[in-house]
Formats: sequence, structure tokens, C-alpha cells
Amino acid sequence: MREYTARAHTNIALLKYWGKADTDFIIPTTTSISLTLDEFYTDTSVKFDDDLVQDQVFLNDAPLAGKSYDKIVRFLDIVRQEAQLSTHALVKSTNHVPTAAGLASSASAFAALAGSASKAAGLNLTPSELSRLARRGSGSASRSIFGGFVEWQRGDSDESSYAKVLQADVDWDIQLLTVIINDQPKKIDSRGGMQHTQATSPFYAQWVENTNAAVSDMEAAIAQHDFEKLGSLAESNALQMHATNTTANPPFNYLTDQSWTVIQLAATLRQKGIEVYATMDAGPNVKLISKQQDTQAITEALAASLPNVQTVAATPGPGIQIVKGAKL
Ligand code: DP6
Repeated sequence: MREYTARAHTNIALLKYWGKADTDFIIPTTTSISLTLDEFYTDTSVKFDDDLVQDQVFLNDAPLAGKSYDKIVRFLDIVRQEAQLSTHALVKSTNHVPTAAGLASSASAFAALAGSASKAAGLNLTPSELSRLARRGSGSASRSIFGGFVEWQRGDSDESSYAKVLQADVDWDIQLLTVIINDQPKKIDSRGGMQHTQATSPFYAQWVENTNAAVSDMEAAIAQHDFEKLGSLAESNALQMHATNTTANPPFNYLTDQSWTVIQLAATLRQKGIEVYATMDAGPNVKLISKQQDTQAITEALAASLPNVQTVAATPGPGIQIVKGAKL
């Protein structure tokens, strides 16, 4: 059978997905809105081969084993079922996401796998169908099918839960400046973290209500290029998400003292007239929603209070690209 290769870019949520209404099908409790990033992506090639006795998966040229391998086999099983195939696959994936940056790679990874595996299996999915398929690997991957600003409508079933483009060509100045905080705390992955929070935080229901209520405001902010509105909604949403973690039982926390220093610095910079807002995911790094024109002022302010931290800038990026063959 033919080999196909896909490139999918990672995305960062401005309104977050943090909990599931259905864990098997990965139907979220909230509609989420994200920005796809240009600089960070995953390239994945898939070939179904009758000679293989099991799936073979290589990540950055090294064979994958254990839980990560099992997750990919489970995903390939979904593709095989849809395509009515029983053949095993050879999967080769390269991550162009700096590991230290702690930027979500499961989003780009499962989007690229969904794109290449579905085509290699002979499925010709529409973008919405591809988003639904990617969702079943990792929820945030549903959004990485599309470029620019993207909304994953939570829906209430496999058929109705998928992402769509809000604004593909982002022709205004917005970037995410990731502040890399090395002081990594004990790692709790997103899947485990959101499940524990949903099950135990007394604030969880409020988080769901507030996030869904913020969707139309965030859509308007994006449509109107209203940076202040977009940034303040995103920062508030991230802080509320992290508040559900610190109020879980037992509580947990992704943010370190250094994360809080950066969040505070964003507030101080805003008082000085520099528009910068913070968002944080399942780790200590802080992504500063900012304008390229302010990069220097922000990095200088960071260097003054946290001399050892590094920053990585990322601008809006495109949707998935799928080609026949082993290379893009
Ligand atoms: C904090 O998509 O990694 O980045 O669906 O269980 O694989 P699973 O979770 P995942 O969760 C991402 C959580 C987040 C917020 C977001 O991207 O919306």
C-alpha cells in the first residue's frame, strides 16, 4: 500500500480544554479556542505493509515502546477499523518541537498521524472528519488540523465534536513568546491531571460554565483583532484552569515560583503600556501572548528579573499538509 506523509503544527489554547464528557471518544466539557503555531510541528509518514507482524513506530529515528507505543497502536486500530484493514503499519515521526520548550507535542503528533494514517489506509476524509479522527488520539490534536485561530466545538457525540477555522490568515501582530522555566516539578500529564481535577475540584463545574460562556467573547475578540480583549480573556481562562488544579483533592500544581514571577511581570508590563498576557498549560512554562514589536522590551524585562530563563517566539502557523510518499 502507499505511503503518505503529513506535517501538522502544534497549537496553544487561549480558551482551554480541561476535562472530558466522554473519555472513550474524547468529547470535551468545554469548547476551546487555540492558535496554531508556525515554528513547531511534527512530520509523520505511515505505510501499511502486509509483511509486518506488528506495528512499528519510530520517533526521531528511535523505536518507540511502552505506553506511548500502545497509544499509537490503539489509534491505528481506529483507523484500521474505519478502513476495514487488518494490516500493520510502519510509522516514522519526527518532532520539530524543542523538547525543552515543553510545548504540547501530542497535538501536532496525533494530527500528523491522523492525516498520514488515514490517507495511507485509503480513507479520504474531509477536514472535519480528520479533526474528529485526530481528536480520538488526543483532544488538542483536533485543533491542529487547521491553521490560525481554531475553535474545537465540544459537541455531544463523536459526530458533532470537531474543530473548525475561525481565522486562517492571521494578518495582525500576535505571537506567543514561551518562557522556558527549567525548574520542572513532578510531571502529571494532561490526561491524568484533567481527570483528577474533574473528579475532585469543587470549582470544576464553575470552570466549565465560565469557559463555555467566554467562547462568544473570544470569537468576537479574534474577529475584531482586539488584542486586549483576547489577551485578558485568555489569561483569566488559564488562571481559572490552574485554580481547578490547586483546589483538586489532593491538590496539584503545574506552576512554580518562576512561573508566577513571569505572570506578575506581564501585569507590570501592561501597567507600562506593553500589551502582554500570560497563558499556561500542563507544565511550568509561561506563554506570553504578545506583539512582535514588543519582543525586545519583554525579553529585557524578563532578563532583569529572571536572568537564567530563555524565550522561544512562535507566530501563527498553517493547517495540516499531506503528501504522497515519504517526504514533504
Ligand atoms: C492544558 O489534548 O493533551 O494543553 O485529550 O487527554 O490527550 P488528551 O489531552 P491533551 O490536553 C491538552 C490540555 C491543555 C489545554 C488545551 O490544549 O486545550
